[in-house]
Amino acid sequence: MIFDRNHLPLKLVEQVKYMPKIELHVHLEGATQAEVFYELAQKNKIDFGVSSLEEWQSFFAFKDFGHFLRVYTLAITALKEPEDYTFIITEFYRQQAEQNIVYSEAFISASFIIQKFETYAILKAIEKGIKQGSEKYGVKINFIPDISRELVNTQMAVVDFVIEGNKRGLFIGLGIGGPESGFPPELFAKAFEKVRKAEIHIVAHAGETEGAKSVWGALKILGAERIGHGIRSLEDPELIQYLVKKQITLEVSPTSNYALGIVKSDEIHPIRKLLEAGVNCTINSDDPAMFSTSLSKEYFLLLKQGFNCFELYQMNINALKSSFADKETKSKISLLLNTFERNRTVFEAKDQLIPR
Ligand code: ADE
Ligand code: ZN
Repeated sequence: MIFDRNHLPLKLVEQVKYMPKIELHVHLEGATQAEVFYELAQKNKIDFGVSSLEEWQSFFAFKDFGHFLRVYTLAITALKEPEDYTFIITEFYRQQAEQNIVYSEAFISASFIIQKFETYAILKAIEKGIKQGSEKYGVKINFIPDISRELVNTQMAVVDFVIEGNKRGLFIGLGIGGPESGFPPELFAKAFEKVRKAEIHIVAHAGETEGAKSVWGALKILGAERIGHGIRSLEDPELIQYLVKKQITLEVSPTSNYALGIVKSDEIHPIRKLLEAGVNCTINSDDPAMFSTSLSKEYFLLLKQGFNCFELYQMNINALKSSFADKETKSKISLLLNTFERNRTVFEAKDQLIPR
C-alpha cells in the first residue's frame, strides 16, 4: 500500500481530496494568507512593525488565544480599501474551490468593517467579490458577519450592517467571536434580539476558552442555532443532553483547538467523546491560513486519531443538513454527494472505504 507524507494510505487521502465537502465554520480573514496581508499592508502603507515577510510569517506562529487575537486584529488593519475585501473574497472562493469545498458558511469580522467603511461602499465591494468568486470558481459561499466580543460598542452597527446586507442577499446570519472571557452573552442580548426579529440566522462561538455556562448563554440568551467549537460542553452532562435532544450542531475545529492550547497536544481531540454522546458534530478549519491547516488536513488529523472515512463522511452530510443553505442548494449538493458515493470504488482503500 502506498502511504503519503501523513502516513495515510494514498487512496484514502485521495478520497478525502475528491469528496465534495461542506464547511460551516471558517473566517474570511483567517483564511487569508500571511503573504496577502503583507502585500496589502505594503500597498496601503500600514506598518506591521516587522522588517520582512519572514518576520511577519513567524509572527503567525501562535502561542495562545491572546496572541492569536493580536495577530488577527493587526492583520485586518491591512484591509484599508473596500476593494481589498473584493480581492480577499475572490481569493477565498479560489481556495475553497481548490479543496473541493462545494458549500461554505464563512464569517466576516464585521466589527472592524463598520469602524472603517461607509456601509454602501463596503457592501458593494463585498457583492463584487461574491459575484466574481462564484462565477469564476462555481462554489457556493454564504457569508455571516460577526461581532467581535471585545468591540462591544460595535454590536448595533454590525446588526444594521447584517440586516442591510441580508436584504441584498449577501448575508444569511449574524455570528459572534473573539474573547469569551470577560464578554458574556448578556452584553449582546439586544443586538441578537433585533436580528432574531428580522428572521436572520444566528450562530455563536462558545465553549472554546470558557465552559458550559457560555454555551448555555449562547443558546438561551443569544438564540444561537449552532455553536462554534462548543467542545467544553462536555463539562456539563445536562448541556450535552440538551444539545442531543435539540439536535444542536457543534462546528468543531480540531487544529484550531490544538493551536490555541484549548486541547493539549498529547490529547485525543474531544470530538470523539461528543460523537459518542450523540452530539451532532461537523469538521471545520476555523482560520486555516493562521493555523497552517485546511479542511482536508482536518480530515487527515481525525483519520490519524482513529476515525474511519465513513464517520467523516457522515459529519460532512451532517454539515449539509445543519447548514443554512436553501432547498435548491441542498438538493444540488446532495446530488454531488450521491455521484461521489457511486463512483467511490475508484478509490479502493480497503477497510476505510465509505460504505455504500
Ligand atoms: N475569530 C476567529 N477565530 C476565532 C476563534 N477560534 N475563536 C474566537 N474568535 C475567533
Ligand atoms: Zn471561529
